[in-house]
Amino acid sequence: MKEFKRTLITTALPYANGPVHIGHLAGVYVPADIYARYLRLKGEEVIMVGGSDEHGVPITIKARNEGVTPQDIVDRYHKIIKDSFEEFGISFDVYGRTTSDTHRRVASDFFRKLYDKGEFVEKTSLQLYDEEAQQFLADRYVTGTCPHCGNPGAYGDQCESCGTSLNATDLIDPHSTITGSVPVLRETTHFYLPLDKWQPELEKWILEGHKEWKSNVYGQCKSWLEMGLQPRAVSRDLDWGIPVPVEGAEGKVLYVWFDAPIGYISNTIDLVGDDYTKWWKDPETRMLHFIGKDNIVFHCIVFPAMLMADGTYNLPDNVPANEFLNLEDDKISTSRNWAVWLHEYLRDFPGRQDVLRYVLTANAPETKDNNFTWKDFQARNNSELVAILGNFVNRAVVLTHKYFNGELPAAGKLEEVDEKLIVEINSLKDQMSEALDTFHFREALRLAMDMARAGNKYLQETEPWKKAKTDMERTATILNMAIQTCASLAIAFEPFLPFMSAKLVKMLGGDKITWAMLGCFDLVPAGAKIGEPELLFEKIEDDVIEAQVQKLLDTKKANELKAWKPEPVKADCAYEDFEKVDIRVGRVLECSKVKKSKKLLQFSIDDGTGTPRTILSGIALSYEDPSVLVGKEICFIANFPPRKMMGIESQGMILSAVNPDGTLTVISPSADVAPGAQVG
Ligand code: MF3
Ligand code: ZN
Repeated sequence: MKEFKRTLITTALPYANGPVHIGHLAGVYVPADIYARYLRLKGEEVIMVGGSDEHGVPITIKARNEGVTPQDIVDRYHKIIKDSFEEFGISFDVYGRTTSDTHRRVASDFFRKLYDKGEFVEKTSLQLYDEEAQQFLADRYVTGTCPHCGNPGAYGDQCESCGTSLNATDLIDPHSTITGSVPVLRETTHFYLPLDKWQPELEKWILEGHKEWKSNVYGQCKSWLEMGLQPRAVSRDLDWGIPVPVEGAEGKVLYVWFDAPIGYISNTIDLVGDDYTKWWKDPETRMLHFIGKDNIVFHCIVFPAMLMADGTYNLPDNVPANEFLNLEDDKISTSRNWAVWLHEYLRDFPGRQDVLRYVLTANAPETKDNNFTWKDFQARNNSELVAILGNFVNRAVVLTHKYFNGELPAAGKLEEVDEKLIVEINSLKDQMSEALDTFHFREALRLAMDMARAGNKYLQETEPWKKAKTDMERTATILNMAIQTCASLAIAFEPFLPFMSAKLVKMLGGDKITWAMLGCFDLVPAGAKIGEPELLFEKIEDDVIEAQVQKLLDTKKANELKAWKPEPVKADCAYEDFEKVDIRVGRVLECSKVKKSKKLLQFSIDDGTGTPRTILSGIALSYEDPSVLVGKEICFIANFPPRKMMGIESQGMILSAVNPDGTLTVISPSADVAPGAQVG
């Protein structure tokens, strides 16, 4: 394997058109952060670069909908996103934005250099144009039917139903999302990056050179390459973006997927200035892109082709892309508000960033889509973080306080059980290193938890609380071993649970930790003052989880309501036919459930005649307590022939409205009306 001097970690730049959610965290930022922290613990030279992606059509659509400028939108969300990452301890060395001056300049220069080298092809073609809005309809400005799967809501850049990436002109029956009008075709000229030109080089580099890439990444690249690469337009007719720096290209901007990855370069420049060449061009630097699976083609094919076209940059060494995280068995969706938003989590679970980091890593969608459920979140907190890790540390610290006043006693001669613990922790460390080196973070986390399990087992076997009655010397050794194990846990968990780790290091009176220290049993010197025992994790109760589940159920309900459409209107009905129906107002005198029937309510109605009228109605499921209807005025059909049900004769029919969820609501006049009044 090639030896590298330093590592440049990039993380996909999230679009600044909404806050970030658990899917972002699980797929990209937590794994990248784990890896960056691990390398730093090993003393390696590393930087982690991130930022917001502030161009692209979705941002302009959102701005238009809200009646504000695109800049307003990105200013708002850049701040929310940046704050969320900070709060979750995502340890970016720089978090920039693609509307920065540096980025504009760097992206513009990048394009210009390729243009001057003749790396683009200019092509004039017919594109969709909205005559009402007087603009070309790029990407998400147009929807229509997907030519591959027939989904009627496909976008001009992609069909979300079958995942195919599309050109706007591929859509069947296209419509403008700005005005709803049917676009016309109009000629426009764009700059294309001829990916076909780079196909042989890309094939050699990926298919032969990077067989070690994750199979989901390698497989996607292979299938793209097998389909044959086509030239790709890298400019757009839009007024939001970086202007194409070419005479005569007024009104055109760089395609968002051209400028965004250059953001990795410009953000590095914002961090280290001219030294950026060390990170981007020195062959001894290793570059890693952390992304989600929808970004694979851009990071493995398009961006590398751009870098090849420039000719002076390194290519990524690995692209450990993740699959998707679902939420309670449903695809996470911003538009359907089906997500756990990070800023809301922080409000609902203050100080519990590590719990979410833990659960998202333990369930990371590394090789297949995975599922987040609140029940699992609770279970992992209560039965792993609290019951295994927290419990072990707590016992070690509490016992040290109880028997030695919180002053770490020196260890005496080691016994077999002690040696066994040392061997086990060190063997787990080796396995962890191996897992972390190969981006198997869930496995690494499981191994870290196994260290805590080993600690618990050790206390169970050595029983210092019993030994303390007879043998203080042996008790001293056991607690020394236990506290040293706590120190190792603080290191092993640092990449995953940085807040817990910092707290624990402080409790043990430690300072700087390194990966090399992990597994050493002399990290805390004898005589050291151990801090007061502090709970590292707290149990999460059922009601807290139920509130979160309820919130999602409410969202589901609201979405159903939004998606609901009234039944189509029935065929024409002549007035003479309507006239035959005698609708009246009546007052409910009595209302109760019919015995042995789930659905039927029995009404006694004052219909103005002086004799109460009995009507049966199948609405019992909608009225848990039928007495609420007593005294109310309702509408009923008075001239249906009487009908017997459950041995009771019904003299008419109560009118009710059918709600979207299928429940029924009786119809009442808007003001008091004389019982017996006719409705017509
Ligand atoms: N904004 C894109 C997304 O959320 C990712 C951009 S990654 C970069 O899918 F490479 F372009 F920066
Ligand atoms: Zn489709």
